[in-house]
Amino acid sequence: MTQNSAGATAGGALRTASPAGASLRDDRWTRAFHTRRDSSARLVCFPHAGGAANTFAPLSAALPEHVQLLAVQYPGRQDRRGEPCAADIAALAEGVAGALEPDDGRPLYLLGHSMGALVAFETARLLEEHGAVARLFVSAARPPAQDWEEPDLDGLGDDELVSGLRRLGGVPEALLRDPDSLDEVLRVLRADHRPLRRYRCARDTALRTPVTVLLAAGDPKNTLAQMGEWDRHTSSAYDVETIDGGHFALTEHAATTAALLLRRMTTSGRAEAGTSEKPTAPADLVREIYLAGPAAAAERPSTDLTALDAAARDVLAPNAYGYVAGNAGTGTTARANRAAFDRWSLLPRMLRGVTSRDLSVSLFGQRLAAPVLLAPVAAQTVMHPEGELAAVRGAARAEVSFVLSGFSCHSMEEVAGAAGPGPRWVQLYWPSDLELAESLVRRAEASGYSALVLTVDNPAFGYRPADLDHGYLPFVQGAGLANFTADPVFRAALPENSGPADVVRHWAAISANPGLTWDRLPWLRRLTRLPILVKGILHPDDARLALDRGADGIVVSNHGGRQLDGSVAALDALPAVRAAVGDRVPVLMDSGVRTGSDVVKALALGADAVLYGRPYQYGLALDGERGVHHVLRCLLAELDLALTLSGCGAVRDIAADLLTPAGRSLGPFPARTGGAPGASCGEPDAR
Ligand code: FNR
Ligand code: LAC
Repeated sequence: MTQNSAGATAGGALRTASPAGASLRDDRWTRAFHTRRDSSARLVCFPHAGGAANTFAPLSAALPEHVQLLAVQYPGRQDRRGEPCAADIAALAEGVAGALEPDDGRPLYLLGHSMGALVAFETARLLEEHGAVARLFVSAARPPAQDWEEPDLDGLGDDELVSGLRRLGGVPEALLRDPDSLDEVLRVLRADHRPLRRYRCARDTALRTPVTVLLAAGDPKNTLAQMGEWDRHTSSAYDVETIDGGHFALTEHAATTAALLLRRMTTSGRAEAGTSEKPTAPADLVREIYLAGPAAAAERPSTDLTALDAAARDVLAPNAYGYVAGNAGTGTTARANRAAFDRWSLLPRMLRGVTSRDLSVSLFGQRLAAPVLLAPVAAQTVMHPEGELAAVRGAARAEVSFVLSGFSCHSMEEVAGAAGPGPRWVQLYWPSDLELAESLVRRAEASGYSALVLTVDNPAFGYRPADLDHGYLPFVQGAGLANFTADPVFRAALPENSGPADVVRHWAAISANPGLTWDRLPWLRRLTRLPILVKGILHPDDARLALDRGADGIVVSNHGGRQLDGSVAALDALPAVRAAVGDRVPVLMDSGVRTGSDVVKALALGADAVLYGRPYQYGLALDGERGVHHVLRCLLAELDLALTLSGCGAVRDIAADLLTPAGRSLGPFPARTGGAPGASCGEPDAR
């Protein structure tokens, strides 16, 4: 059954201040307990079934002057007792949404407790059409699509209801003992329960608003395993915060809740509210997973980022798996990529004070939340029907930027529409048709891509036995050609009444461009003001040539070992490239990066950031957008922990002195001297 009725003061009017600057269209729906004339953020709070606005009075008191708390008052109770209780959740949401000014210049946050979370969710759906909601907080509530397993309270006797209320807490004992008050408590509770039981929501109903789940560790009704699926209901950022206490922890520990909410709130024109607590860090994923327990762990892909390959193999068709996992030739280069990481060890430093870590980097004046971007990977519907759209949504939720492959299954415009607010880059293979090249660049500019990555290590596809043995290349099947079929120049060149085979034929004719030379780069440089990175560089002289011809950055890469088998490991090529281009030119690397420690090693050897390749493809194959989100959260958690454990407070603290060659002693063995304390340790007894 659903909890208490903290609000049943039997029709008593609430003492409320007028909602200062609250811009209400209909003031029946919300109550403000404090006049916050200069507030610069709004927090609208939705009570539980049987509850009322005054549940949130202590929270309002705990919030600082610049946050205006507006508590929702549902009809049918207290000062709205004359109105009937709502018949469904949608009616409540419509009432609140209609009463609020969606955009009064202050960010709008919604917080729903228990049943209130469903009302807040539905209100967010209505308001976000105006782009109005900054974040939804939900507490003590299962996800909208989940069965809440609530009994029919109309069929339960009063005694049973009262003992349920006592178990959950939240209703003052005095109210439960006073017969009139109790009647009112039970009447409102039963009335609210009916719409709660009737409520239904599809599993794929997702907000664009970020969601934070507030999980009370001792809540008997909601465990993280039950609440975890809230992540299905947002295509934006999602996280979980745990708080001490039971079902009513949110309101019973108002100061803690206020501090927690403030960490997630920004206010228009004001500094973040003062709190000494740190904001959530990527490494908090670890705590979240332990708290969720074994059942939840069994449901998600492994956190071992090197184990995803085998898991994906189990769910993919052999040719699809062969395409993504396959290498050129005997796989020597792919193995060398990994072995190169293993040849370095981290030499961590202790006691350096690493309470919070700054993972962000700035490249070309663009801020990335972490030194990681999704590598451009072609034809992602081979992995999952939603392809690149799912990948970039998963990346957005993890605040990771991406490089879209030029050979994608969704056009760059479609992908831009699904992308998060962070920087997005696009990769191009140079087509032999210059007019088409220009058209692709213009479209990239127009759809908000903020850097071009020109891949130069693919004048021809490498010799890939897996694909050859399957007789399979996605492009020949028509996958990965969306940027071409969406392009006016490409389409104009097709014969009249052309079919899929003509598209593939023309694509093959213009995309293989082995005659390309460095002399083409200045043309591209003149064409666009976007930063240009050249990807696929291993030789330091090629890095110099790229910069001489107008490139702004380098990606050291051997294409994950998919092109020239036997070529040098990317990590081994990195230091010489860095030395060749100097400190100021952005240098990225990929090929073989799998773990957080790998990222640290790449950065210590001269990279500013890495591109992450196959592992996110495996996440995509295993669980679509959620799988990509999971993989990236794991990577960033491990990176964050690697910084913590190495004594680095920020990515910029990573330097070459953090590395030492693996398997080698750090110095000569000390000469053994007799008589020092403990010197006899381990020595045979001389007696
Ligand atoms: C790639 N890669 C790639 N690179 C690129 O510039 N354009 C592309 O379209 C593709 N397509 C592509 C498809 C698949 C299935 C894979 C696995 C890779 C190469 C990619 O960007 C990156 O360089 C490697 O994936 C890095 O190696 P790891 O980390 O996957 O080993
Ligand atoms: C690949 C190409 C498309 O590696 O870059 O398959």
